[in-house]
Parts: sequence; C-alpha cells; structure tokens
Amino acid sequence: MQYGHFDSEKREYVIDKPDTPAPWANYLGSPAYGAIISNNAGGYSFVKSGAAGRLIRYRFNEQDRPGRYIYLRDDKTNDYWSASWQPVGKPLDVYKSICRHGTGYTQIEADYKDIHSESLYYVPQDADYEVWRVKLTNNGKETRKLSCFGFVEFTCESFYEQDQVNLQYTQFITRTYFKDRFILQTINENCLNALNESRVETRFFGLAGAKVATYCGDRASFLGKYRDYGNPLSIENGKLDGTLNYNMNPCGALHTVLEIPSGKTVEFAFLMGQKRETAANELISRYEDASLPDKEIEQLKKYWHGKLANLKVQTPNENFNNMINTWNAYQCFITFVWSRAASLIYCGQRNGYGYRDTVQDIQGIIHLDPQMALEKIKFMISAQVSHGGALPLVKYDHNPGKEDKPEDETYRKSTGHPSYRADDTMWLFPTVWKYIAETGNAALLDEIIPYADSGEDTLFNHLKKAIGFSLNNLGIHGLPAGLHADWNDCLRLGAKGVSMFVALQLYYAFEIMIRFSKHKKDSAAEKEMTELKERFGKIIEERGWKTDRFVRGITENDETVGKPGDPEASLWLNPQSWAVISGFADEKRGGAILDLVHKELNTKYGARLMSPSYRKHAFDGALALLFNPSTKENGGIFLQSQGWIILAEALLGRGGRALEYYLESCPAAQNTIADTRLMEPYAYSQFTESVDSPFEGRSHVHWLTGTASTVMVGSVEGILGLRPDIDGLRLTPAIPKDWKSFTMEKTFRGNKLNIKVNNPDGKECGCKKLTVNGTAMEGNYIPASVLKTENEVILEM
Ligand code: NOJ
Repeated sequence: MQYGHFDSEKREYVIDKPDTPAPWANYLGSPAYGAIISNNAGGYSFVKSGAAGRLIRYRFNEQDRPGRYIYLRDDKTNDYWSASWQPVGKPLDVYKSICRHGTGYTQIEADYKDIHSESLYYVPQDADYEVWRVKLTNNGKETRKLSCFGFVEFTCESFYEQDQVNLQYTQFITRTYFKDRFILQTINENCLNALNESRVETRFFGLAGAKVATYCGDRASFLGKYRDYGNPLSIENGKLDGTLNYNMNPCGALHTVLEIPSGKTVEFAFLMGQKRETAANELISRYEDASLPDKEIEQLKKYWHGKLANLKVQTPNENFNNMINTWNAYQCFITFVWSRAASLIYCGQRNGYGYRDTVQDIQGIIHLDPQMALEKIKFMISAQVSHGGALPLVKYDHNPGKEDKPEDETYRKSTGHPSYRADDTMWLFPTVWKYIAETGNAALLDEIIPYADSGEDTLFNHLKKAIGFSLNNLGIHGLPAGLHADWNDCLRLGAKGVSMFVALQLYYAFEIMIRFSKHKKDSAAEKEMTELKERFGKIIEERGWKTDRFVRGITENDETVGKPGDPEASLWLNPQSWAVISGFADEKRGGAILDLVHKELNTKYGARLMSPSYRKHAFDGALALLFNPSTKENGGIFLQSQGWIILAEALLGRGGRALEYYLESCPAAQNTIADTRLMEPYAYSQFTESVDSPFEGRSHVHWLTGTASTVMVGSVEGILGLRPDIDGLRLTPAIPKDWKSFTMEKTFRGNKLNIKVNNPDGKECGCKKLTVNGTAMEGNYIPASVLKTENEVILEM
C-alpha cells in the first residue's frame, strides 16, 4: 500500500491518503524553537528543549493527538470538519486531504463540500514562534457562511514530565486571559510581583487577518463533557463560550466568522509561541500583512534548499536520489539539531545531547554545511573531561570549564548517566577527520578549546587525551574495556570485559592521528601513534579473530562473545564492517568477512545486528536479552549499522553489494509497502523487526536516529566515492554494474564541481581516466590546488 509520493522538484513528500499506518511527521523550526507535526496536524512544540520547554501537549503512543487543530463549520448546515483529516475524521469518500511535508514547512490541504482549505504550518527562519496560515476557497456556486476555529492545548508547565505526572502542582499554577486578538496563558504569574520575573512564563495563541468572534481558554469548556478533539461540543454549537481557565487545563481556542462568496478565497493566520503580552500583540500586528507568510516560506525554502544544493546527485536510482538530495540530508540536519530529544517516540526525557550520537550526527552534514558542523565539533570537544573521557549527556546550556562529571553525584542525578562509555570519544576521530578533509582547515588541530571540568588544550591534544582515556581503561588482554557501554547500549562489558568494536575504533583513531601528525610534521606523535597501532593491531589479531570472523568482545570472565559455534549471538555485524572501515582487515580478509555477513546476517530488509538472537544463552552484560528476538539490539536490523556495512562494501569496491544493502533499508524504496514498514517513507527509523518476528519488516523509532548520518556517509563517501583528504578529493565510486553513468554537482571548499561518471564497461569500481577541466589527473585524485570556481570533472571507470 502506498500513501504518498516524492515531489523531487519541490523537495516535498506528498501524502494523499491521510489514513497512514502511523503518524508521518515533519520537523519545523530551529534550535530556538522546535515543532514536530504529523500529516494530521498532530504533534507538539517546544522552546529550545523538548524536555524543559514544552508548550503544547501530545499524548504519546496513542491516536496522534492532540495537535494544531483548525476546525471549519458550515453555520447554515451546522456540519463541521477539520482542515486536517483528523481529528474530526470525515469519511474519505467525501473528504479529500493532501499533506505536503517540505523542508521546514508542512501544508495540509483539504476539500470537503466545495470548500478547499490550505493550512500552512511553519516556524519563520530563526524565529521562536510558529505560524499557521489558513486559506479557504469557496469552490461552490453559493456564498458560504463559515466558522473557523483554531485550537491548541497548552501544557501547564514547560517541564514535560512535571506536566504529565506532578498534577497536584501543575494543575494549580496556570490561567488564561483574552487579549482582544489572542489568548494569553500565564504560569506562576504571582512571581511577577515577587521580582522573580524569570519564573513567570507566558504563552499566546493569536489570530491575525480576521476578527475574533468568540474565544475559550479552558480545555474542558472547549471539549465539553465526555467529548474529544474529534467532536468538541463548542464546535458542534458553533461558538466558544468565553471560559478562561483558572487552574486545571488551559487551551488556546479562537473563533472567527467568515462570509465567502463563490470562487473567492479568504486568508488569515493563527500564531503561537512563548511571548509576553506586548511582544505577542506586536507580532500579531505584523501578520495583519497577509503577504508575509509567502515571503517567509520562500526564505525558508531558499535557506534549506541552498544547504541541500551543496550536493546534488542524479543516478539511475530515483529512491537513492530523493534520499541523498533531500530527505536523508534534511534528516541529518534534524538529528544534528535535536539529537534524540524530541520526536513522537522520544517524548522528552533526554534534556541534552547524547555524546556519541551528536558527534556521529555531525558527520551527516559536514559535506553540506561544514561551518555549522565546525561549531558543534568545538562544542562537543569542550564537553570532553580533562582526563580524556566524555560527558555521556551534554546539557543544552553546557558551560565548559564548570561542568560536573560522572564522578560527581550531582551529574549522575541530573543526567541519569552513571558512568563513562567506552566509545564516546572514539567518534571524535572520524568526525574531526571528515571535517578537516572536507574543508582543508587543518588549523583547527591547533585551536585551543576548554575541557568540560577544567583546563584547556589544543584540539590535537584533546584527541591525544581521548586516546589516553582508552589506554587508561584497558580490560583483560590489554584491549579497551567495554565499560558501561560501547556503541551498543545493551552491552555491559564493564571495566574488565573488552569491546572489539572499541578496539577497532581505537585502531582507526591511531591511523587518523598518524595522518594529523604527518600534516603537523609532529614526528614524535607520529612515532607514538604508529607504535600504538602496531601494538594494538597484534592484540586484535590474537584475541579478536576467531576462524572466520572478528568477535564482538570478551567478558570479564574471559568468555569470547560472537565466536563460531556460540548457540546465540555467534556473529555480529559491526566488528566485521569496522574491521574494513578501520583498515584493519585487508582486501582479501575484508571480502571474506563481508561475504560471511551477507550469507548469515543479511535479510530482504537489511543486515541484522547479530544472529542468532538471544533467548537463553546471554552472558550477564548482554542486556539485549530484554528485547524480543529480532527486535532492536537483540538481533533486529539496527539501521544505523547499515550505513557501516554499505561503507565497508564500498571501500572494498563492491558497489553492487553496497547498493543492495542501501536499497534493502531505504525508506523511499519501501514507499509501496507502507503497511509493512509503518514508519515514514522519507525518513530513516532506528530499527526494523527481523526474521524471528511475526512482523518482519516493521520499522520503529522514527527520525531521531544515527542511521541518518551513517547512511549518508556510507552513500556519499562509499557509493558515490567522494573521499576528500587534507589536500584534495579522491573520486572513487563503488556502484552497481548497471549504473552506466551518473552525475553529481558538489560544492567543495567553495568551488563547484560538475562531475560526470561514465561506466561503459559496467564496472563496480576503478578509474580508467579522470580529467578536471580537460586536464588528466593522476589516478582518481583531484588536488584542491587545481580547482577553479567552476569545474568540469569527468571520470571514466
Ligand atoms: C540508540 C542510542 O541513541 C545510540 O546511542 C546507541 O548507539 C544505539 N541505540 C545502539 O545501542
């Protein structure tokens, strides 16, 4: 079943069947103000933090309600409907709905009884409020007398958990007022008098471009007894009763009456945000100018499309193109901004950036916005503790030099993170390498950046400290301890047990530090890193390789996890792909282990994280046992890991396999099996249920997942073969034999590269000839020094 299609021209996903198998969401806004909205206008908004800045309510894990609702009512027939199919839910044989999700905006269009409505939801660029622009057209012959109602359900408190559970407090701290064109909600308003201004919060819901006829600020009065958002009594009655809440549950509801002659269109806008009365008033006045929303949408499109245009590909695979050019790229920016903090499943417990998640997320946008990436790299480096470990959770208002750390009770209490993770700082190496390679900005290595607790150092020394942290936390056999967790949150290998994933990451870190040392002409560091690489290489070879595979780890009781013959979890995906990515496995062995993965772990929906799933034979630290077999870390298809197997196959030049893995888990490629997949066909999810599950192919945990960045890197560096280094760009695609040619437009260090790849002989990799502006290059390498502002690049494979 298909519920929508990609409009690649407009960079939109268009949902023309509103009864999607799950709420299909989009993200609006910026770090200042975030909003998540579904194709039925469900969702919520927040200021800075989904956990601590929640403005409106959303009931998770239910019917995609409430949301940003616009109700329409024919005041002659008393019939009413909503401008999004839900919540009123008119029969779909008489009600037509189209939802256009775009980059930073969502437009929901509906046609019912000759009234065409368009509700355009967006957050103006860098603004901290949202706009719902409504257009109503009478396509009938008679003039229509309509009522339009806008509705939001405010939270009583910005801290989500407080609003949801501490009712004996939050139900008695808020009230609403009607201020001519808007509802004003106050929280703890008495603190104004007590000179504790900052405690007071005020939110507004306003109407511009139309006159408020009736209003309501009290949820119970808006809905009516035993009524729901689908059939509010006030809408049925055709007017709001003017009740304003004083304690209990607030809402913002405004009603305007419209007379629309045949063929005419009327438009106005609802606005919502966290503002004081004066500011709210000024804002609404600005939107009396009906031309403003179109200007702002053009600005938003220009902003986002401008970023996405830094890489535009045209390959024979439309699904690949749609994801790389628009949706995977947009998702990378969304994970970059919101980490794992606010979605329709992450409901707001996490109040900050997960260290490993964010350092990985940065990789997904480096090729599109290196400057934005640079700021976050420095921010995350400043969240490294002076002994080299990283704060597992970094607060949005992180204050370098003054932060508590996992050793401190205060940190553990406020973040819920008891101790360091073995892999957090390991992600700094590929991320810093990718940034410096993309930009050539190696001077960053000498930039002084503070530590989270105290002191400061050059970025290069921060990286050395990160290696020091791993070397000071070695387990048995002298390999890196797995500590509280490595990348896999469900593996507790502890201070003695060792992680082969971290060992391979450390091996790769040494390689990257050798490259940086060579560039800095720091021979002492180069020597030190080379010796460490050799030393650990020997131990990995001795302890990490068993017959035909790399094991996953060794427990503190010296049990090897992931070896041939283990009754469960005998083969793990990540050690195999990372043996190739880290350069530890040579081409021959790399090919063999990836063939084993393809044979044992691959399925039609992607490669499983490990197999067989745990049921009976899990060691103490194997928390994956908590999940049903073939679910999440317990042998599910953990989609983030698909990015690494795609990259590994591509690094070995096996383009056919790389794209096979790509398409198996590509949302766009599952657009016609939406009832199986459930999740959005334009955004990656965290995992897909696999072979042990009766629901094989069903995906979960949408949007906020590291899959976005790893698949982007696997696609751009792997399949498309755009592999920059400090001095230039290596162009080495790994593509399926049937891709006879493809093109790319890439911005590289401010220069435009129009790249044409020809593959007449149906190769998967290789370079017969590479020319730049007609000049032959040596091999497949383009020194940055030869580039002009605009360049014609032709690669013959
Ligand atoms: C999701 C977490 O956000 C991420 O940090 C972790 O690496 C994966 N789960 C795997 O456990």
